[in-house]
Amino acid sequence: MNSQFVIETQNLTKKYGKFTAVDGLNMQIAEGEVFGFLGPNGAGKTTTILMLMGFCEPSSGQVRVIGYDPAREPIKVKKVVGYMPEKIGFYDDLTARENLEYTGRLNGLSGKLLTERINGLLDDVGLKDKSGQLVGKFSHGMKQRLGIADVMMKEPKIAIFDEPTSGIDPEGTYQVLNLIKNMASRKVTAVISSHQLHQVQKICTQVGIFSKGKMVASGPVDKLGREALRKGKFNIILPIAQLTDKVRDEIMKIPGFVAIEIADNSTVVTADDNISKQLEEVVLKATGLKLQMKVEEFELEEVYMKYFEES
Ligand SMILES: Nc1ncnc2c1ncn2[C@@H]1O[C@H](COP(=O)(O)OP(=O)(O)O)[C@@H](O)[C@H]1O
Ligand SMILES: [Mg+2]
Repeated sequence: MNSQFVIETQNLTKKYGKFTAVDGLNMQIAEGEVFGFLGPNGAGKTTTILMLMGFCEPSSGQVRVIGYDPAREPIKVKKVVGYMPEKIGFYDDLTARENLEYTGRLNGLSGKLLTERINGLLDDVGLKDKSGQLVGKFSHGMKQRLGIADVMMKEPKIAIFDEPTSGIDPEGTYQVLNLIKNMASRKVTAVISSHQLHQVQKICTQVGIFSKGKMVASGPVDKLGREALRKGKFNIILPIAQLTDKVRDEIMKIPGFVAIEIADNSTVVTADDNISKQLEEVVLKATGLKLQMKVEEFELEEVYMKYFEES
């Protein structure tokens, strides 16, 4: 397999008896990506993660994580890969700091290095003031943030988060996703599994859509959008239905233009970029009218729904 990717699978398959949970998965994740595993419950996201970590053995196919085979070299993989399971296990009767100390010691840290790393991470996740509190008293969102700090204790090359935002409020979700995004800017490759695509897509550089054990689509969010919808990513709506041929021709010359359609009392221009400024200029020049335009951007949710309609 190619070593330019930090995670790579070939025909990766996991069967439980006769049931196939992961079905011939081919996936490549490059360094520094924030890769979203998106899909409904039961699609095979967690099973895939468990195979990446070496917690569960593939029935067939291959996995490489930073060049290692997780089933054969699980310790090497765990040394460089951080994993936050869906249900994080902290010691409720220990404080946040004591929990991180425990993880740090397991990873061979001690003394000043351990203390400094914990202080830095507690600060990063906004729990500095709560470091002496028992984790049993933490809210779900606080536990998730502590979980991120916990994953980062060993300064991993890859960090994998299984449903990190499930069950937390919008504010907590925003904090958790922002933390993961910031972390990724420090050269960590992140994998996030989620069934809550509209929140998670915002921080992903790439996504893979899982359905019934298969990755049915993958790529950058905007590329997926265009392919799935077979048109541009932006709809710009002009509040007039009559345009002269000359204006139409001018509009069609704008870079990024994809299509033009007349709807009831309006004209819809579809484009790869938000070309509303250029449209405004063209219309202003031709007609002297300064029009209010409405811009709609396609969300991954629409893409995702399309795949699910087909599956
Ligand atoms: N240990 C197991 N034994 C039998 N079936 C399992 C086991 N683990 C997962 N499955 C099944 O495999 C499918 C995929 O599960 P999972 O990977 O947890 O999906 P996701 O994380 O996308 O919700 C589900 O139908 C689930 O019931
Ligand atoms: Mg899962």
